[in-house]
Amino acid sequence: RAEVQAKSLALSEVMTKAGEYYKQQLRSAPPAIAYLKKRGLTGEIAARFGLGFAPDAWDGLRSVFADYQAPELVEAGLVIDKSDEEGGGRKRYDRFRDRVMFPIRNTKGQIIGFGGRIMEQGEPKYLNSPETPLFQKGYELYGLFEARQAIRDAGYVLVTEGYMDVVALAQMGFPQAVATLGTACTPTHVQKLLRQTDHVVFSFDGDTAGRRAARRALDACLPHANDDKFIKFLFLPAEHDPDSFIREFGADAFEQQVHEAMPLSQFFMREMIADHDLNSAEGRAKTQFDAKPLLQTMQPSGLRLQMVRNLAQVTQTTPAEIEALFELSQPVAR
Ligand code: GTP
Ligand code: MN
Ligand code: MN
Ligand code: MN
Ligand code: MN
Repeated sequence: RAEVQAKSLALSEVMTKAGEYYKQQLRSAPPAIAYLKKRGLTGEIAARFGLGFAPDAWDGLRSVFADYQAPELVEAGLVIDKSDEEGGGRKRYDRFRDRVMFPIRNTKGQIIGFGGRIMEQGEPKYLNSPETPLFQKGYELYGLFEARQAIRDAGYVLVTEGYMDVVALAQMGFPQAVATLGTACTPTHVQKLLRQTDHVVFSFDGDTAGRRAARRALDACLPHANDDKFIKFLFLPAEHDPDSFIREFGADAFEQQVHEAMPLSQFFMREMIADHDLNSAEGRAKTQFDAKPLLQTMQPSGLRLQMVRNLAQVTQTTPAEIEALFELSQPVAR
């Protein structure tokens, strides 16, 4: 246990040093600065998020770490070892090269990973740190550390898909934004968010991937949804993400979108009836069949009861019949 802690400490020092290096490299990288400016970001916002630049070099980090061969650099996900067939030894190189760097922090503010964006066209567009003892993607949210006070002030958190969404929203007056790290929103993410605030607004991309992400977020929310949580889903036009939307239409238009976001119960019903013919017994039964495993993940609550009632209505059954059919446990009667 003590050993694990000592190791994690070393890794976090390694990440801090790397973050400082990338930040410092950005100052002497006019193309990277130009890229961030082209994306509409000011130096102030870049500094707030500690943005940096990994230069186009195979071993840039050699200048940062006295021992470039230290195993901690691999464990931190900063370098990659490749077996060198001719020499018979190992060849080591920097994972992040020629990319704009977004440090990912834990809630204590320590850097635990990075996302690196390529500036031109190319694959992958974003390169992320691998999972390390410090960094678990299903648990961490980009921007949460930076957003914490703003979430309290605004009374809600905006959950987006991307690094750029978070930074652009902050620049445009919505500092209460975080992002899932290119992975689906997990129940663990939801739990973490609900520890900060009881009002969550998901704002994923308007494209197919974003709509699928919203559906997965809905599933992840159900175990944690109850009467004092307010969870909403904002659906942007297909060609937009929060970053592009707010830049094209402005902060007021985005605020309006937040205001009009769809409550969880409504999104749930829309998803359940999609593709089903409610005029046929089979369609209504299939709707129930889809809803059953989801409602079963919910805790007994007034919200669940409302959702059961809505489902009963469209499937021509009664709430009691649904509760029996779904074997939903009841709140203890007093
Ligand atoms: P910009 O194009 O810079 O505006 O980024 P974006 O955030 O709009 O990108 P996109 O909507 O395509 O992807 C959303 C998020 O998924 C990104 O912020 C990344 O976290 C992740 N992502 C996108 N592309 C890649 C990729 O090629 N590899 C990995 N690992 N993650 C990616
Ligand atoms: Mn997208
Ligand atoms: Mn984008
Ligand atoms: Mn996007
Ligand atoms: Mn279905």
